[in-house]
Amino acid sequence: MSTLPPPGVVITSPMNIAGAPEGPSQQWPTENKFLNGPFTPWHEETQAYDLPVIGHIPEDIAGALFRISSNPRFRPRNTDRYHWWEGDGMVAGLYLRDGKAAFRTSWVLTDSMKIEVEQGEAVYSGFVNGGTPGRLPKNAPLAKNVANTNVGIFDDHLLVYFEGGLPYRMHPRTLETFGTHDFHGGIDTLCTAHYKIDPVTGDMLFFAATGPVITWYRADARTGHVIESHAIDVGVPVLMHDFAVSENYAVFLVAPNLFRTDLIAQGLPGVVWDESVLPHGSQIVLLDRRTLKVTWHEMGDTSAPTHFFNAHEAGDEVVVDCHRITRLGTPASRLGTPVTSHEWFPPAYSWQWRVNTATGKVSNRRLSGIAGEFPKINDNMLGKAQRYGYFATTRSLAADTMTDGLARHDFRHGNTLVVEGPGALTNPSEPVFVARPGAEHEEDGYVLTLWWNRDTELSELLIHDAASFDSEPVARVPLPVRVPFGFHGNWADQAALDRAVAAADVDA
Ligand SMILES: [Fe+2]
Repeated sequence: MSTLPPPGVVITSPMNIAGAPEGPSQQWPTENKFLNGPFTPWHEETQAYDLPVIGHIPEDIAGALFRISSNPRFRPRNTDRYHWWEGDGMVAGLYLRDGKAAFRTSWVLTDSMKIEVEQGEAVYSGFVNGGTPGRLPKNAPLAKNVANTNVGIFDDHLLVYFEGGLPYRMHPRTLETFGTHDFHGGIDTLCTAHYKIDPVTGDMLFFAATGPVITWYRADARTGHVIESHAIDVGVPVLMHDFAVSENYAVFLVAPNLFRTDLIAQGLPGVVWDESVLPHGSQIVLLDRRTLKVTWHEMGDTSAPTHFFNAHEAGDEVVVDCHRITRLGTPASRLGTPVTSHEWFPPAYSWQWRVNTATGKVSNRRLSGIAGEFPKINDNMLGKAQRYGYFATTRSLAADTMTDGLARHDFRHGNTLVVEGPGALTNPSEPVFVARPGAEHEEDGYVLTLWWNRDTELSELLIHDAASFDSEPVARVPLPVRVPFGFHGNWADQAALDRAVAAADVDA
């Protein structure tokens, strides 16, 4: 922070190429929800320093919140079929220290984005809903790495994740893109965006899904090398997006949300809901991390997880808390008329699955009547029984938003508290929990979210004190830009950020 420009400065970098919009906000004419409202692309990279603060950024918050937005750089080849999951990743870094905030955004300059920049237009077709075929020049990677799903520091590297390719490494201060990262040769072509960090060892627990094969990995915190891997063939090409980890198990849910590359090649939807592939319904697959034994358990219905809060063990039971959705993808019976943006995500609810490892039986129950997405916990509770989970509500309060409030579920008492956005703020991001230094309690920390201001159409950072969650946020930090609605992010404390900056400076 000491090398930053003077306070109050906002520096923008317009996309200075043919076909670029005149202003930073890019709205192509379409009814597609994923290209309007809080999703509307923003076509400038920005630096801003000493941002205005409403309230007070607590002095014990020091570090950076890295978030990623889904922000198509070029007009999609088919704006009606375009899907949120296909937007180009733009990383936002929110740097907080000494009660002050600085901000920077940058697109992740992947090899496939370089091709589109050279060509001056989108050349890749959509992989979710199909549509207009691609127009790939000879030297283009065959599949696009949109690098848009998650971002965080591991092994002193700021890594950007997308499950259809390798992570990309960026400088954590300048957000310059360096290139791909394969964990020192430990993985080959794919990597989940939903890695977990073991709060005790610091090791990364993750997987890659290639067709029907799920490969589980553990990477060492000290060396960054992969030190465990184990492949499981689940028999169907499930779109395995997230998973959960308890003390002794890795938990995968096999549901009929498929990723069909053969259909994409025909210009048809690639994300397909096909219940016929699982005649006994969705399955919970447990990988015993001690023995590498794999067991299958019928869930008793045909649903899919969106994201997981956590998993833990209680006696013989593995308890899995997630958000459950009843359909994810275009039904196999209507591939010619893909599900539209407004109906793509049915409401998802907090749900608990309990697998008895002695009997193999599974029970389940809904935890909350408040629809929502992006469940999160205090990451220090990974693998343990958390008391609190946080998520963004999806109560369908408005047609143009995805989310509409911030919720905290109390697993002990079974109630859900919803916090509305102040003023015109709505469409909050996934909540990120930042533990206070030296925290002794699970709720001792802050919940950070990015919201969309319906009046200004710009974004705003909110900081809630987790211990007084239903009070006003302790700080609001209006940003000079919109961060188009995206997916995931992580907090890096000042020590982790400084180490990663030092490592990146060597390579820059
Ligand atoms: Fe995700």
